[in-house]
Amino acid sequence: MRLPVYLYGHPVLRRKCDNIEEPSDELTALVEDMFRTMYESDGVGLAAPQIGKSIRLVVIDGQPVADRCPECEGLKLTLINPEIEMLEGEQVTRPEGCLSLPGLSEDVKRVERLRLTWRDTDWTEHTREFEGFAARIILHETDHLEGILYVDRISPIRKQLIRNKLNAIARGDTMPDYPARVAPTARKRR
Ligand code: NI
Repeated sequence: MRLPVYLYGHPVLRRKCDNIEEPSDELTALVEDMFRTMYESDGVGLAAPQIGKSIRLVVIDGQPVADRCPECEGLKLTLINPEIEMLEGEQVTRPEGCLSLPGLSEDVKRVERLRLTWRDTDWTEHTREFEGFAARIILHETDHLEGILYVDRISPIRKQLIRNKLNAIARGDTMPDYPARVAPTARKRR
């Protein structure tokens, strides 16, 4: 089932997510729905808060950008309770986008290597190192689990410059071409 994507301004995107206690059929079905939602919205990552669930769950498929970022070749992950164990390398600046922020893309500085531990839907524990754009996708998505959006990591001047665009998303005036949901308190002008 395709799920609506919750947009900037919705309070669920600002909550710190809860750990998932155990595997379940419901969890496996939710993971399938999240992959479908991500693919049909042309995203390379989706975190549970973006579909309205405040739990530590992320899906990633970097294949669509593998031609530009070889480290994303075959990168298909379901991350349950991901924990960053190590961050290293240079800070690199690259543009990011987010399905919860339609129409926006901004430069974000992040480190280029990390080690991550997580569980999959069979509850198997994994530890692996990632670099380049793969590490960036993981950092972007795990930020979502802490209630952090990439626009929190851009310069104050840039954020001021896109303030009107952010407000338009929060009000429901900038809707994407995929099913989406704004905060119940969004003030509709039309
Ligand atoms: Ni995002």
